[in-house]
Amino acid sequence: MSSYDVIVIGSGPGGYVAAIRCAQLGLKTACVEGRETLGGTCLNVGCIPSKALLHATHMLHEAEHNFDEMGLKGKAPSVDWKQMLTYKDKTIETNTKGIEFLFKKNKIDWLKGWGSIPEAGKVKVGDEVHEAKNIIIASGSEAASLPGVEVDEKTVVTSTGALELGKIPKKMVVIGAGVIGLELGSVYARLGTEITVVEFLDAITPGMDPEVQKTFQRMLKKQGINFVMGAAVQKTEVAKGKAKVSYKLRKDDSEHEIEADTVLVATGRKPVVKGMGLDDLGVKMTERGQIAVNEHWETSVKGVYAIGDVIEGPMLAHKAEDEGMAAAEVIAGKHGHVNYGVIPGVIYTHPEVASVGETEATLKEAGREYKVGKFSFMGNARAKAVFAGDGFVKLIADKETDRILGCHIIGPGAGDLIHEVCVAMEFGASAQDLAMTCHAHPTYSEAVREAALACGDGPIHM
Ligand code: FAD
Ligand code: NAI
Repeated sequence: MSSYDVIVIGSGPGGYVAAIRCAQLGLKTACVEGRETLGGTCLNVGCIPSKALLHATHMLHEAEHNFDEMGLKGKAPSVDWKQMLTYKDKTIETNTKGIEFLFKKNKIDWLKGWGSIPEAGKVKVGDEVHEAKNIIIASGSEAASLPGVEVDEKTVVTSTGALELGKIPKKMVVIGAGVIGLELGSVYARLGTEITVVEFLDAITPGMDPEVQKTFQRMLKKQGINFVMGAAVQKTEVAKGKAKVSYKLRKDDSEHEIEADTVLVATGRKPVVKGMGLDDLGVKMTERGQIAVNEHWETSVKGVYAIGDVIEGPMLAHKAEDEGMAAAEVIAGKHGHVNYGVIPGVIYTHPEVASVGETEATLKEAGREYKVGKFSFMGNARAKAVFAGDGFVKLIADKETDRILGCHIIGPGAGDLIHEVCVAMEFGASAQDLAMTCHAHPTYSEAVREAALACGDGPIHM
């Protein structure tokens, strides 16, 4: 039996970051992970592999659609799917090995196996029980199931299966027009798969700014993705390696079917809470099955903390990381802090979609007066030069004080652009502060400044 100041259960972005910060703060730390490799969902079957495939297929798309125009002649590249998957796997490997290196560097013990908490202050891994003054649960999430839909990870797959299909399907039905459905749907659409996205609601990416939703859907349609909106999937049936998806249109209850080689179920994820003995330990849960925590990420059991996808809030790697650092700091007697009002969300399609803070809808609901500064990438020279003039930046500021309240971007590099707004929001900046900041020309960032100018006397290039 070993004794630790902190044992972290799970080595995803929440867990590994918490472990590293604990070690940096002088706490003797171990991290339990049952997978073969460190890094959790994000590095093994989430953020990283999906971005590798998005990158490779975006290159293909550029070659097929834009090279000719730029005077780059010749045949577009052909796809070696096996090699593309090898590239994706290598990307995973370098990243997961990177975490292993960081663990060694910070003298964090990796306790290999699945962990449970037989009592407060103890973590069991295999037959061994270790002592821990503090425990951080960072067990993450898994794909949620859908009634009537049986996942076999071959024909009917979750994102995990979709990242390693044996061959590129001819036809794919994606259930759910959320982040996973649209990112992975984009990957296969670019590879020539006929994609139909079946979505329960009437708009894609729920919760996002409605103008962004509409523009985004229009752009995806232009890329060849078909949408069936307002449709509740009833069941899937698989016969001879082919699938049939049955759905009902909500507007008239009419029943329909689509056939596909592959069905991707992307209807949300649920926290992983089973097998850790949480019930017996008396850990309180939320109504939605997440671990309930207080403002210090401590559960109802003293000395047991929880962070990341397993607690409430957006299921995002960077949110988990921030909570990991903050919980470590609380345990070390410092002041851990996460500003939940400034957590960006990014969809890594082409173009990218990014947002932070309030939307017009949330502000209207709160009865708060606001103003909107909008700027189209059509007025941005750099964007036009790279065929990315479609899209816009929408900055929202308080009507009276001019303080920035939110930002929604669809366009080139949106996932990076959003961060200047995040920093501005953290510093309580006004739209005028952003508008008065010199932005290099020609950059996509100028569109953010122009949106800020649009909150005041008006943009220059529109
Ligand atoms: P996880 O990353 O889920 O890690 C939890 C780890 O705990 C797992 O490795 C698991 O094996 C381990 N574990 C669980 N129980 C035990 C136990 N009892 N004992 C030992 N180990 C245990 N987010 C973004 O911000 N950007 C993206 O681009 C993005 N892309 C994504 C793409 C896909 C396809 C998916 C599925 C998700 C994506 N996400 C993305 C979401 C992101 O992966 C999660 O928000 C993030 O991984 C959550 O981190 P976590 O540390 O809470 O949990
Ligand atoms: P999601 O919550 O983003 O979207 C699920 C979609 O499925 C919703 O639009 C919902 O209305 C729809 N849906 C639900 N039931 C349905 C039904 N029966 N029939 C048709 N449609 C139905 O979930 P998703 O895409 O699975 O992603 C899970 C999590 O992973 C998200 O919370 C996201 O934050 C995270 N993630 C983040 C990424 C990023 O940051 N770029 C990338 C991928 C995942």
